Amino acid sequence: MRRLATPQDIDAVFSLYMHERVVPYLGYDPMPLEDFRAIYQEMLESRRFFVYELNGRIAGFYRATRYPGRVQHVASLGTLAVDPALHGQGVALAMVSHAIDELKAAGVKRIELCVESDNAPALRFYKKLGFEHEGTLRKFYKRAGDASAIDDHLMALLID
Ligand SMILES: CC(C)(COP(=O)(O)OP(=O)(O)OC[C@H]1O[C@@H](n2cnc3c(N)ncnc32)[C@H](O)[C@@H]1OP(=O)(O)O)[C@@H](O)C(=O)NCCC(=O)NCCS
Repeated sequence: MRRLATPQDIDAVFSLYMHERVVPYLGYDPMPLEDFRAIYQEMLESRRFFVYELNGRIAGFYRATRYPGRVQHVASLGTLAVDPALHGQGVALAMVSHAIDELKAAGVKRIELCVESDNAPALRFYKKLGFEHEGTLRKFYKRAGDASAIDDHLMALLID
């Protein structure tokens, strides 16, 4: 089941976000819970950050935003992850297929996202869903402690 995240979800979201197999691929470097609170508050206020529950527990999350005006038919996916304890079981496939269906029903014609060039599982995952590589954002993504930034891939799915 997918639902909007709530203030009560912060501990579950934080522990999934900061997991060593997840945090290298999301937007922020590891940080303590106290610092995460302000980021989480912004995510809540956007009302575009969703959690995906399985058997009453948070199994994954994602953010789906829309652009305004002449690009209002475009949505952007981000801050997406599945609990590593559940990887390889089709959870992301179910979660993102559902998100795509909802965006489609809301009139979205293009869904785009960025994937780090060293994130092979995610690149394969999005390709499987039909996303295509459109370009490379060179030196776009820099993790604390890395000497230099790495490339990101811009991927998009067109909906007819
Ligand atoms: C990418 C991620 C969301 C996939 O979640 P998942 O629930 O394990 O994915 P699924 O089980 O639904 O897999 C669906 C397909 O994705 C691909 N895939 C998933 N994990 C993979 C892996 N480790 N290696 C290669 N391909 C993989 C496969 O094509 C798979 O289909 P198949 O099993 O029939 O081959 C998960 O690895 C994750 O949370 N990673 C950390 C955070 C992250 O990278 N987020 C994306 C940022 S852009």
